[in-house]
Amino acid sequence: MRSSSTRSHALSGTVSAPGDKSISHRAMIFGAMATGTTHVTGLLEGADILSTASVMQALGAKIMKTGVGAYQVEGCGEGGLQTPDVNLDCGNAGTGVRLIMGACAGYKLRATYTGDASLSSRPMNRILDPLREMGAIATAQEGGRLPVTLESDGDLKPLTYTPPVASAQIKSAVLLAAVNTKGVTTITEPIPTRDHTENMLRAFGATIEVTQKNGADVIRLDGPVRLKGTKVNVPGDPSSAAFIIVAALITPGSDVLVENVMMNPTRTGLFDCLTEMGGHVRPTYFRKSGGEVIADIHVKSSKLHGITVPPARAASMIDEYPILAVAASVAKGTTIMDDIAELRVKESDRIKATVALLANNGVDVTELENGIKVVGGEVSGGGLVTTHHDHRIAMSALILGLVADAPVTIDDGAMIATSFPTFFDVMTGLGANISIDKTA
Ligand code: S3P
Repeated sequence: MRSSSTRSHALSGTVSAPGDKSISHRAMIFGAMATGTTHVTGLLEGADILSTASVMQALGAKIMKTGVGAYQVEGCGEGGLQTPDVNLDCGNAGTGVRLIMGACAGYKLRATYTGDASLSSRPMNRILDPLREMGAIATAQEGGRLPVTLESDGDLKPLTYTPPVASAQIKSAVLLAAVNTKGVTTITEPIPTRDHTENMLRAFGATIEVTQKNGADVIRLDGPVRLKGTKVNVPGDPSSAAFIIVAALITPGSDVLVENVMMNPTRTGLFDCLTEMGGHVRPTYFRKSGGEVIADIHVKSSKLHGITVPPARAASMIDEYPILAVAASVAKGTTIMDDIAELRVKESDRIKATVALLANNGVDVTELENGIKVVGGEVSGGGLVTTHHDHRIAMSALILGLVADAPVTIDDGAMIATSFPTFFDVMTGLGANISIDKTA
């Protein structure tokens, strides 16, 4: 599904951010593990979440759609997740597969996990190593890739662990295994990562203790814990709102309100960067929804200038570098995004993919050993962007086209549905010149 975008007039209007992907995955997984019923509203009905939901059904949960974004999950509770009859196809979802493997390791079951070409190229040992230390048996393809078969006797040992990289997925996989493990599992995080697992485990009735030691967060879970079904109202995804916000900032004359954006500080690093760059990005009307603080964000097009992004901010904006690089393309001066080696193991190598996307469209960009340098200026456009099955590369390219002299085209826009299925409608509704070529 080839798509393209061209220079656009001012964007204007009020839109809502789609449901948060991280919280939507967790709602399906925790609901399936719990005793009783979980009622979910505002779920992101993206392909990644639908993959996770169907995997949790294969493991024994009953999941029913009751309305738009509304789902009822009957958890497996006492009986526990069960060995599935089929391989568990997690699609494109790194969060899905890694959290589900962690959850399953706590039960007596055996399952084989598969995924699409992008997911099958991503490293799984970062999850499998700690799960093996806890007692699970895992076999993977070379380099720890999918398909992975993971088996557990449901009687793991608790673990004291410091993940080798700042990753909420690693932390979450270990915590989910610890839910059904007798004893205290402790995770030390020198750099905090998104804390949705901790927050949601509490909402499902678990006690999680977080203390500070030598500047690091120490997270303790004393298992086993019986999770109880609850209500989850999924807030809007700041990582999806990011595309709307940057589009409005860089398209001259724009004035846009994005409602229902989660403002959890482990997720808002991009907003800090855009504000430092001179962007009018003003959160208003703070309130609480589903245990998280949300706000409406008012954005007006602004003259941006380049910045050096502090590496310590990376965990709070790990998915936002490609779209920040787009903002940097029209900012005055140089933007440096460094110490972001983790981007190489996302849905694609996002350092290479972002550099190629900008370079193909006339932007002055350099690939650093572990980062990206962009010097802002005019964007010629006219390039064809290879998205490598990566939704965030696809959306970033289409936003760049809104300020380019000639159209920016992407090889495939289908993957956008993994995280932001309403992207085309939302953006064209605001006045963006984005089109889908259904014949290509
Ligand atoms: C996620 C964590 C991040 C992020 C991903 C979602 C999560 O990955 O890139 O899109 O929901 O826990 P890492 O924690 O591995 O950096």
